[in-house]
Amino acid sequence: MFTSTLALLGLSLGLVANAFPTQQSENGKNWVVIVAGSNGWYNYRHQADACHAYQIVHKNGIPDEQIVVMMYDDLATNEQNPTPGVVINRPNGTDVYKGVPKDYTGDVSGRKIEHFKSPGLLAFPNDDLHVADLMDAVNYMHENKKYGKLVFYIEACESGSMMTKLPADIDVYATTAANSHESSYACYYDDKRETYLGDWYSVNWLEDSDVEDLSKETLIKQFKIVRSHTNTSHVMQFGNKTLAHMKVIAFQGNVNAKPAPPMTLQPVEDPDLTPSPDVPLAILKRKLMRTNDLSATKKYFSQITSDLKYEYALRHLYALVNLCEGGYPTDSILMAMESVCHFN
Ligand SMILES: *[C@@H]1O[C@H](CO)[C@@H](O)[C@H](O)[C@H]1NC(C)=O
Ligand SMILES: *[C@@H]1O[C@H](CO)[C@@H](O)[C@H](O)[C@H]1NC(C)=O
Ligand SMILES: *[C@@H]1O[C@H](CO)[C@@H](O)[C@H](O)[C@H]1NC(C)=O
Repeated sequence: MFTSTLALLGLSLGLVANAFPTQQSENGKNWVVIVAGSNGWYNYRHQADACHAYQIVHKNGIPDEQIVVMMYDDLATNEQNPTPGVVINRPNGTDVYKGVPKDYTGDVSGRKIEHFKSPGLLAFPNDDLHVADLMDAVNYMHENKKYGKLVFYIEACESGSMMTKLPADIDVYATTAANSHESSYACYYDDKRETYLGDWYSVNWLEDSDVEDLSKETLIKQFKIVRSHTNTSHVMQFGNKTLAHMKVIAFQGNVNAKPAPPMTLQPVEDPDLTPSPDVPLAILKRKLMRTNDLSATKKYFSQITSDLKYEYALRHLYALVNLCEGGYPTDSILMAMESVCHFN
């Protein structure tokens, strides 16, 4: 009997999925799927989290053939990267980019709008993942015995909404960065790179995996630690909670290999927590505060103004999603929009 585990870790407007078979029976294999669903320098943190997730499962003995990393891969060689080829996930952190397999990289469809999201929807650079599709996929995989056990880690605003319909009897356990109606938070602003290096929930579980002995720690213990550290949103758990009594190594490593020795990490004094939707603006404000150059100041100002328009548009998009999910016919939504716009 194959036993497998899928952990899906979504990164605020992105998604990281780790699929690992657990309980490694003789012929069972641990699979890990890691997805970062955004691109662009200002979204640095999502791919940094994803690379970090790779380093953890790699050092705990999962072979690259069983790790799938899906990400844009536009950081290492980004013109804004002051340390070409290097990606970090905490202040003064080590390179997490080294060795990351490039199974699925690049601009799949050319879509740039990875930034918006709404309850029940995670945005990818190339596609949006809807709750219904995700649940269909998981149920299909369960029915067709594609996994033994599955664990998800999901980082996204309103990520709780992804899992509210997760059945308790299909051997899946999921934790999410936030509940169904709150933002998740970016952390670790880096002055040199002028971007945030991580996401608070992701960094909390990733760093916990770094410092703990994963052959001793259970998922439920990790969940409780992450929940207490992630003080800006409600970290949630879903699915079969009995699974959470299993050891983390069963999902993030190879139980037959030696687990990586626990690391020591220097505490970061101020994690610089910022709601994900505010990140583009927060970055511009920080750049503005640091510059003495008049033309740069002008440039940042105009970007801030257009960014505000963008945020404004996002809020309205949110209203539109609610209308669609409320089952209103497209015609009446369009008519209502037209009548409102005529006044302008
Ligand atoms: C990073 O390292 C530099 C040089 O060692 C040090 O001055 C700085 O305080 C460190 N920053 C953090 C956030 O630890
Ligand atoms: C939850 O998982 C445990 C451990 O694998 C299993 O024994 C139990 O039957 C599962 N519960 C449900 C409702 O499927
Ligand atoms: C959350 O915790 C961090 C450090 O652990 C702290 O710097 C921050 O002020 C806290 N934020 C809130 C909203 O409690």
